[in-house]
Amino acid sequence: MAAKVKGTARGPAGGEGPGKRTALITGASSGLGEQFARQLAAGGYDLVLAARRKDRLDRLAAELAEQRGVATEVLEVDLSTPAGVAAVEERLRRGDIEMLVNNAGFGTRGEFHALPPDRELQEIDLNVRALARLSHAALESMVPARRGAIINVASLGAFQPVPYMSTYGATKAFVLHFSEGLYEEAKKHGVTVTCLCPGPVKTEFQQVAGVRAERMAVGWVPPEKVVAAALKGARRGQAVVVPGGMNRLAAASVKFLPRFVARRIAGAMFREP
Ligand SMILES: NC(=O)c1ccc[n+]([C@@H]2O[C@H](COP(=O)([O-])OP(=O)(O)OC[C@H]3O[C@@H](n4cnc5c(N)ncnc54)[C@H](OP(=O)(O)O)[C@@H]3O)[C@@H](O)[C@H]2O)c1
Repeated sequence: MAAKVKGTARGPAGGEGPGKRTALITGASSGLGEQFARQLAAGGYDLVLAARRKDRLDRLAAELAEQRGVATEVLEVDLSTPAGVAAVEERLRRGDIEMLVNNAGFGTRGEFHALPPDRELQEIDLNVRALARLSHAALESMVPARRGAIINVASLGAFQPVPYMSTYGATKAFVLHFSEGLYEEAKKHGVTVTCLCPGPVKTEFQQVAGVRAERMAVGWVPPEKVVAAALKGARRGQAVVVPGGMNRLAAASVKFLPRFVARRIAGAMFREP
C-alpha cells in the first residue's frame, strides 16, 4: 500500500506559537491509538496519525482539529511493509516530533503450525520491526535535542510465553525488553521511553486476533484509563506502565512462579476448549 501524506488541517483555536508540541501515533484509526489521539489533542498536541484506514484517520483528524484547534496530519501507511515504515521514518526525521506512540500492532491466536506463516511474519514485521525502526528514527532527533518521549505498546503477554499466541507473546516480550533497554540508554539524554503493558482492553484487537473475550474473566480496563495511565507514566518518566491492579499483580506474580506454571496459565486463556 502506498504511503501518502495528507495536508494539514487546523481548527479554529489553532496557532503555531513556541509552546506547540507534536505527537506521532501509529495505529490511530481505532482502539488505544484513537484514544491516544483524543487525549493528546486535549492536552494541546498537534498530531500525526498513521495507519492503513485513511477514511477513519481523516475523520478523526478533522474532528480533533475542529474540536481542539490542533494541527493534524494523516499518514496512510501499512507498517508491515518497508515502504510504509520508510514514510513514517521520513516524517520523524523532520525532527519536530516530541512524542512517538508506537501503538500499531495485532495478534494471532491458534497453534503456530496451523496459522498462515505469512501472517505470522507480518505480525513480527509490524509489532517488532516497525517499532524498532521508528524508535530509532525518533531518537535520532530526540537525543541531540535532549527532549522527547516514546511510548511503546507491549502487553501483559510480554511477561511470560503465551502458548496459542506464541508469536504475539514473543513480539511483545521484545517490545518490553527493547523499551527497557532504551529507557536506560535514553534517560541520560533527557529522553523518556515508556513501555505500556495493558491487560485486556475492549478494542478491535480481540476480533482481529480471534480471541474470545469471555475467556478473560478479569483485568479489563477501559481504553480511556489505559491511555491516561500511559501518558501519566510518560510524564513521570516511568519505564513500564501496567494499568489495573489485577494486571499489576499478574505481572509481578510471574516473577515468583515456576516458568512452566506461568506459561501454562497464559496458554489456558487462549487454548480452544
Ligand atoms: N486490546 C487489548 O486487549 C490489548 C492488550 C494488550 C496490548 N494491546 C496492544 O495495543 C495496541 C493497540 O491495539 P488495540 O487494542 O487498540 O487494537 P485495534 O483496535 O485493533 O487497533 C490496532 C491499530 O493498529 C493498526 N494497524 C494494524 N495493522 C497495521 C499495519 N499493517 N500498518 C499500520 N497500522 C496497522 C490498526 O489500523 P489499520 O487497521 O487502520 O491499519 C489500528 O489502528 C497493539 O499493539 C496491541 O497489541 C492490546
